[in-house]
Amino acid sequence: MAKLHVITYGCQMNEYDSERVAGLLREHRYELTDSEADADLILVNTCAIREKAEEKVFSKLGELRALKARKPELVLGVMGCMAQLQQTTVQKRAPYVDLVFGSAAVSRVAELVDRARTERRHVLDTGEAPLVKITARPPSADRVRAYVTVMEGCEKHCTFCVVPRTRGRERSHPPEAIVAEVRGLVAEGCREVTLLGQTVNAYGRDLTPPTDLPELLERVNDVEGLARIRFTTSNPYNLTPRMIAAMRDVPKVCEWFHLPLQSGSDRVLERMNRGYTRARYLELITALREAVPDIALSTDLIVGFAGETEADFEATLEMVEHVAYDNVFAFRYSRRPGTPAADMTDQIPEAIKADRNRRLLEVVHRVTAARAARLAGQVVEVLVDGVSRRNAGELSGRTRCNRVVNFDGLGRVRVGDVVHARVTEVLPHSLRAALQSTPEEAVCSSR
Ligand code: SAH
Ligand code: F3S
Repeated sequence: MAKLHVITYGCQMNEYDSERVAGLLREHRYELTDSEADADLILVNTCAIREKAEEKVFSKLGELRALKARKPELVLGVMGCMAQLQQTTVQKRAPYVDLVFGSAAVSRVAELVDRARTERRHVLDTGEAPLVKITARPPSADRVRAYVTVMEGCEKHCTFCVVPRTRGRERSHPPEAIVAEVRGLVAEGCREVTLLGQTVNAYGRDLTPPTDLPELLERVNDVEGLARIRFTTSNPYNLTPRMIAAMRDVPKVCEWFHLPLQSGSDRVLERMNRGYTRARYLELITALREAVPDIALSTDLIVGFAGETEADFEATLEMVEHVAYDNVFAFRYSRRPGTPAADMTDQIPEAIKADRNRRLLEVVHRVTAARAARLAGQVVEVLVDGVSRRNAGELSGRTRCNRVVNFDGLGRVRVGDVVHARVTEVLPHSLRAALQSTPEEAVCSSR
């Protein structure tokens, strides 16, 4: 068999696509290798969301160029969002790349690789194509937890965001195909799925007959053997009361919700074209906490968006305190080609962005540490997913609220089990816990 090495940058959807590609190529006699030097084919799955993500890819491609110089038969491919957005720049800055293809071409990867290998000339495929559900996975994929893409693309027009350009129109996969994929995963030992979409709570409105995420969650919940469901990313604009009720009522849906805020200032939210105000966002948080009191909330925030004043920024800090998030992803605003915000004239200097980012992270660390501290002494439900990274004598898993837990349970508990454990120590990025129940005793609980 020939050897394939895949390098993945960016979001969970890219991780999912990388798995599909490895699965598809396996059917064409490519097996995965961890070693770049051993590979006959290297695919770099790229992200274009911020300039920094793109620079990382170019510097990686620079490294791979040296490898290719030593091994001319190596086929080098670039896939994903940068392939879509920056195809000419990739060809100009990295002319040694053999193959460039966008997400719509993933299902044809074997054919594209074959062409690049045999024709020995550049192959480019960044056109549109019908939506195809690919379920192939390599044997090395995580057994216990899996991503499942339920929709592609995004039709929101957030003024900072390049995703609608890189991933195209909003298209949902039919519920039957999704349920079948989940069933297949469970048959291979999977216990937790994360349903993926750029605006996942807009799922299904483009299908005939139309459906929605709450209905899909019900259907996935019925898959026997599956223990947990998560979904990401939700947009506040599309967050309906039905969805909030589903969070409360669908048993396997975890008490965890990622709801990007982006900014705490109404003025900035409007310039970002987000479609909600700070007050509306807070109403949604109140409704979520009323429905699911223990819910863990996380968010994305952008600092230094064009025109952001000190007062706007302070409004964001205030929201972090007020909402009391469990987790926050903070980004410095990055001008993306072709987006409306890139042309706004009141751009913020990088030094101010860096300073605001630092100040935001200080508040975030304090707030999220206080949220984590609440878990000390509590009994949490843990889905066991492997041995601990730091200590091979310990097992590791995640709570329903998505925190990493390490505990001593070797010999008594297996990977894929759902157990209960009491939190003995809260560390900055994980919890330590003592096993309370073996899998047979464990019943579903909400934490
Ligand atoms: N619908 C997806 C969006 C993916 S982008 C989601 O909500 O996850 C993920 C995050 O990247 C966004 O929420 C935003 O906070 C950040 N982001 C997007 N474009 C950006 C830009 N131009 N500069 C900085 N951060 C950006
Ligand atoms: Fe981007 Fe806004 Fe869609 S952040 S992915 S345009 S919801």
